[in-house]
Amino acid sequence: MHSGDLKIRWARQYMPVLSSIRERFEQEKPFAGMTIGMALHVEAKTAVLVETLVAGGAEVHITGCNPLSTQDDVSFALNTREGIHSYAKRGATVEEYYAGIDRVLDARPAVTIDDGMDLIHRLHTERREILDAVIGGCEETTTGVHRLRAMAREGALRFPVIAVNDTPMKRFFDNVHGTGESSLAAVMITTNVLIAGRRVVVAGYGYCGRGLAQKARSLGARVIVTEVDPRRALQAHMDGFEVMPMDAAAALGDIFITTTGNTGIITERHFPKMKSGAILANAGHFDVEIDVDWLERNADAVERREGINTYILDGTALHVLAEGRLVNLATPKGMGHPIEVMDLSFAVQALSALHIARHGRELSPGVHDVPSAIDEEVARLKLDVLGLAIDRLTPEQEDYMSSWTIGT
Ligand code: ADE
Repeated sequence: MHSGDLKIRWARQYMPVLSSIRERFEQEKPFAGMTIGMALHVEAKTAVLVETLVAGGAEVHITGCNPLSTQDDVSFALNTREGIHSYAKRGATVEEYYAGIDRVLDARPAVTIDDGMDLIHRLHTERREILDAVIGGCEETTTGVHRLRAMAREGALRFPVIAVNDTPMKRFFDNVHGTGESSLAAVMITTNVLIAGRRVVVAGYGYCGRGLAQKARSLGARVIVTEVDPRRALQAHMDGFEVMPMDAAAALGDIFITTTGNTGIITERHFPKMKSGAILANAGHFDVEIDVDWLERNADAVERREGINTYILDGTALHVLAEGRLVNLATPKGMGHPIEVMDLSFAVQALSALHIARHGRELSPGVHDVPSAIDEEVARLKLDVLGLAIDRLTPEQEDYMSSWTIGT
């Protein structure tokens, strides 16, 4: 069996929630005659989502959402299957990256699934001629949802998009445990350095930052958090982490991991303060958090290894992982989030795509929450798989919770 097929088979066995949705889709064929266009990280778990949509009758056209995150053998395996066309390629140049997006759009998708919003961006800029073919879309990640909300605020978004990222069944598991475990795993497997006893600086204390800080602490790291939001900074403090500005953390950190989704987090102001041997990685969607361009232009020398570029600045060695791109997928050995968390996120994706296919025409253009019935269904399916039973509200409790008249 081809390596891509073996990877997909490996992932599939740990994705029981998506399997049960696939069985349902096989019976109901809800996407019959429909084209779904996707720009996601093309790796094994994503392939299982694609299979699920195709089992429901869809034709899928997919490309990557990051030039370094595609696994070529998985992209190849997808192309051998009926109803699937993959244009993703690892190491794509900017032109090749957008050519892949254009090929997806050439198929005139009725439903889009994005991770970072590049498909929707292209649709609303260079490819407006096919906007009318689109019923709606789904967005996987925090950065994509930020961009979509900015579009919606300006009245620029022309169809409904479901913010998969923002729903509890995504955030509580994917952002916290997925980003936490997979980013640290990528740092460890790329560098082979010990986390225990090291000072790990986590930039940003959103769901991803929280996951990373907790997991790093559980490995024995001394964790520093940097934040701009006073409430999150206080939360990090009360969760037991050191809190300080990046200007102060720069001199102390051994390993830096950015999770903010914002630009200019570690810059020329910080590099000269850092210890020689410092390791810098980014866990946010785009490569804008660490100013790698400045290092490329100003370093005295650069040594390039697989997944690690070392910049020498006035005798100080700074090691940047995966060119500052999201470390859990873009470093050569990065595998992305653990399979079980993507099972949940992609189960939400599959059911949200179904919701768009069925009800998209009734929804207004803009950003929409995942319907809570979908979120709960995914949670219940997972509890069933785990064999976990939970309590149910009694009628009395339901009354109590919806009443305002009962007091002391
Ligand atoms: N694998 C596929 N999509 C992913 C994502 N958004 N984050 C991490 N791993 C992934």
